[in-house]
Amino acid sequence: MSHADLFTPLRLGAIELPNRVIMAPLTRSRAGEGNVPTALAAEYYAQRASAGLIITEATQVNDTAQGYPNTPGIHTDAQTLAWRRVAEAVHGKGGRIVAQLWHVGRISHPLFQPNGAAPVAPSAIAAAGELYTGQGMKPFPTPRALETDEIAGLVKAFADAAKRAVFDAGLDGVEIHGANGYLIDQFLRDRTNKRTDRYGGSIENRCRFLLEIAEAVTAAIGANRVGVRLSPTGAFNDMADSDPVALYSHLAEVLNPFGLAYLHVIEGLPGNRMAPPEGAPHVAATLRKIYKGPFIINGGYTKDKAEEAIASGLADAVSFGESFIANPDLPERFRRGAALNTPDGSTYYGGDTKGYTDYPTLESVEA
Ligand SMILES: Cc1cc2nc3c(=O)[nH]c(=O)nc-3n(C[C@H](O)[C@H](O)[C@H](O)COP(=O)(O)O)c2cc1C
Repeated sequence: MSHADLFTPLRLGAIELPNRVIMAPLTRSRAGEGNVPTALAAEYYAQRASAGLIITEATQVNDTAQGYPNTPGIHTDAQTLAWRRVAEAVHGKGGRIVAQLWHVGRISHPLFQPNGAAPVAPSAIAAAGELYTGQGMKPFPTPRALETDEIAGLVKAFADAAKRAVFDAGLDGVEIHGANGYLIDQFLRDRTNKRTDRYGGSIENRCRFLLEIAEAVTAAIGANRVGVRLSPTGAFNDMADSDPVALYSHLAEVLNPFGLAYLHVIEGLPGNRMAPPEGAPHVAATLRKIYKGPFIINGGYTKDKAEEAIASGLADAVSFGESFIANPDLPERFRRGAALNTPDGSTYYGGDTKGYTDYPTLESVEA
């Protein structure tokens, strides 16, 4: 039991949060030429600066990391400079912001890859279904299995991106995207990892890629500015594991010694798109017991459910996705028990200001 609520300050490593209403990472597919965040992105994030912490949309660590149109990167100087403008805008409004670092792995297409190459993944297994390429829907291609000696280069890409984020762009830290069926998750879970080298097979081996990234990134910028996001039972992007309790319990245990800023676990409440599928175990409560550091939960939370999660000790903080899209002043609305704006799913990905920077705040409505 905890006496804290959503408005009790919280320290995540080096980052002091004035409240526990965290903005979940949200891809919005509005980056400009060269996958550079625009001035509108700076405005969008600055509007949400009252969040305890903003976690940016997933951001590519290198030129093979992309799988959707107009998603930003943080591996070129132009991208890094644009993130600096975002950081300045958020800090100017008194906020805190970390970059979510991702590589999509097999959730990509030659259209997004240098020289039209196949996307890379732990094993040559295509995801079921189709992806949106900007040139219509296409079936997921079969990825190329990474050679063992290529993996160090990918680990380094995460560390380099983290350095750019903190030292060059002035963001407050990074979140390593180990969730939702992207490259790191593809190594973790055994539906997508059939490798026979030291990165596949046993649970220890499947965790190795993430642990090497955690080592490199924490060495680069300090563990107290690094979070990790996981989705132990998420089925999105055709994912599954034969024993998520064993896999993620081990992972939580071996992440302990890093002293990370936080662990961020997606396990949706019933009815949420991130809820464990039929028959899958719930693992968040188990991970909370094993993991010693700050713990963020996500997936379908309302104000009341979030306060319950904090009071019961399930989590130290809660992240909100769709409700932060539609409510730039979400913490204030929660504080007052005010009604929330309804998010418009048709403007989530791509487009302009509509559904991005034009949701009203309470203050603008009352003025
Ligand atoms: C439009 C949209 C974009 C998303 N983009 C990301 C992303 O870039 N990285 C990520 O880890 N999760 C992403 N997610 C998942 C959210 O962070 C979150 O886990 C999910 O929306 C459930 O939380 P909620 O019920 O509070 O919205 C996205 C979800 C939505 C709806």
